[in-house]
Amino acid sequence: MKNIIITGGAGFIGSHVVRLFVNKYPDYHIVNVDKLTYAGNLANLKDIENKPNYTFEKADICDFETIMDIFKKYNIDGVIHLAAESHVDRSIKDPFTFAKTNVIGTLSLLQAAKLSWNGDWEGKRFYHISTDEVYGALEFDGTLFTEETRYNPHSPYSASKASSDHFVRAFHDTYGMPTIVTNCSNNYGPYQFPEKLIPLFINNIRHKKPLPVYGKGENVRDWLYVEDHARAIDLIFHKGKIAETYNIGGFNEWKNIDLIKVIINTVDRLLGRKEGEDLNLITFVTDRAGHDMRYAIDSTKLHEELGWEPSLQFEEGIEKTVKWYLENQAWMDNVTSGDYQKYYEEMYDKR
Ligand code: NAD
Ligand code: DAU
Repeated sequence: MKNIIITGGAGFIGSHVVRLFVNKYPDYHIVNVDKLTYAGNLANLKDIENKPNYTFEKADICDFETIMDIFKKYNIDGVIHLAAESHVDRSIKDPFTFAKTNVIGTLSLLQAAKLSWNGDWEGKRFYHISTDEVYGALEFDGTLFTEETRYNPHSPYSASKASSDHFVRAFHDTYGMPTIVTNCSNNYGPYQFPEKLIPLFINNIRHKKPLPVYGKGENVRDWLYVEDHARAIDLIFHKGKIAETYNIGGFNEWKNIDLIKVIINTVDRLLGRKEGEDLNLITFVTDRAGHDMRYAIDSTKLHEELGWEPSLQFEEGIEKTVKWYLENQAWMDNVTSGDYQKYYEEMYDKR
């Protein structure tokens, strides 16, 4: 029996990781620790919420005493840490919240794990989920981020994630804690909060609303289907080497404007509209401050050492994703209206 905390399990990637672990490992007890900020939505986990090996704990990772209590209550031996403030635009407006959750929250989890495990590292693991944004920005010269690329974060979001990565590695180097860090590229797929490019634009196209493209739309991102990230997390949690870093990405670079055109054409086709009829929704707006030009991950190490590779081609992944949002308009309406925040009261408070 393994008792594993997954933090941020009510968010986008976390919900896919929780679902994978709960379904694949009936012998594990998965404790989803989530504060339910605006980004946390328990409706993302409706299909597994009554499984016997799943427990939800509403808690703030910055609340050290509560996190200690959760470690004791469930005799935790593994942590998969995804809870974070994750949206770059929000970090530009409110950097303090990012420092608090991403840095102090991670430190609070590390310290709780250290005190609870008390030097007995046998069978223990602290796995921290980070981002490619800590490496900064690439030129258009074909170079890729490797595990050796120097940290060079530019946004308050990436600076806070970089800082949390350093704390995780410091806990290995100083105390011997068995830690692992992974840095992943942009994820896409079902259950992503519609402040992020892909779900925001799918929903806007459906409602014929303008599509705010930052700058000239020339920035490049490297897109990975979220379930492929969740599979990589499963593999690395079980087989990854302690104290190592693994980059996760699909070698799938897209210029924003090209990606946006694919999304428009896909939505139009699936809605039975004339293909391309909504291209006129594209609206160039003021660029994001400090907007990183290009991200691209080299995931050769993960492939060579652990045999991971993405299972979906991008064309298949984007088709699946657009279909999911169009078929789950109720989920989208619930999020955009704010009603999803009542779900916790209905599902958990009354128990
Ligand atoms: P998200 O914003 O969708 O979800 C974050 C979750 O964390 C939410 O459920 C939220 O309620 C919870 N949370 C926030 N603050 C908390 C706190 N103080 N205590 C407890 N829970 C809290 O994020 P996401 O896109 O799913 O990203 C998950 C992780 O993966 C983050 O660490 C992010 O940096 C990293 N990451 C994301 C991407 C991406 O493309 N989305 C890519 C690489 C890495
Ligand atoms: O690279 C991994 C990162 O990917 C994660 O660490 C972050 O948590 C995640 O939010 C994501 O960051 P980005 O800033 O790349 O994602 P976002 O969806 O916000 O934007 C993708 C690109 O689209 C980026 O170049 C900015 C641009 N954009 C975004 C929005 C929301 C627009 O042009 N218009 C928009 O309205």
